Amino acid sequence: MLEETKLNWKLYPDEIRNESGRQDLDIRTLKLDISESDAPQRLYEFVTNNNLEIGFLVNNAGEGLDEDVADTTQEQINEVITVHVMNLTKIVNLFIPNLQRNSGQIMNVSSVVAFIPSSTLNIYSSVKTYIYNFSLGLRGELRKRGVGVTVLCPPVTRTQFFSRANTGYKLSTFYKAISYSTEFVAKRGYKGFRRNKAVVIPGLPYWIAITFFVKFVPWRLIF
Ligand SMILES: NC(=O)c1ccc[n+]([C@@H]2O[C@H](COP(=O)([O-])OP(=O)(O)OC[C@H]3O[C@@H](n4cnc5c(N)ncnc54)[C@H](OP(=O)(O)O)[C@@H]3O)[C@@H](O)[C@H]2O)c1
Repeated sequence: MLEETKLNWKLYPDEIRNESGRQDLDIRTLKLDISESDAPQRLYEFVTNNNLEIGFLVNNAGEGLDEDVADTTQEQINEVITVHVMNLTKIVNLFIPNLQRNSGQIMNVSSVVAFIPSSTLNIYSSVKTYIYNFSLGLRGELRKRGVGVTVLCPPVTRTQFFSRANTGYKLSTFYKAISYSTEFVAKRGYKGFRRNKAVVIPGLPYWIAITFFVKFVPWRLIF
């Protein structure tokens, strides 16, 4: 997660080397559109051809979709489901042997909306629910293979996400009041990941709401 103003993937290697003070770090990048059907295979070949061993796999790529299902195009449906469901699952499947060799760990990025049915972000919240359930099931499955799995459920975070999803939330005072900085969310996510926590929900109010209250909301009376 990067603050909007810093978003430029080409800067990552230099930023990481400069901020860590480790100019010797070997950083390789591959620019990939994860909505393309062959993306998992291309990523797998890149890793294999470079003889890379994987300690940590982070599935962070995601894009919002703020349209009624009735107004959504087939292309939009395909893109959002491919990025969050199909290709995330294929990437995990392809890299399990490599992660197992290295007693590695996976972090999948879901969202707090995974717990909340939504009429305005319906497809997006549904794919995030898939990521949440998939990750917990995967955690149980991969324990015997020595691979850890954490699912990060970020609260509203000030990134480019909302402007890209074409929502009006970015400008509102409400959005500012309920949102967190990228630094806060990334630090909490990283800490939970390194402790191999099953679920990380940064932000105490969100954690309390999801842990104690959301399950008691009578959703069928609301929708
Ligand atoms: N911001 C929030 O409030 C919030 C809340 C809950 C969960 N999340 C989740 O957090 C994750 C990170 O989002 P963000 O808030 O940092 O949003 P963002 O600023 O829009 O960044 C999204 C990231 O996903 C990458 N991405 C999107 N579609 C891609 C594709 N087809 N192929 C390859 N990469 C793709 C983007 O790469 P490029 O920059 O190269 O396009 C970017 O690095 C997402 O999974 C999102 O669903 C965000």
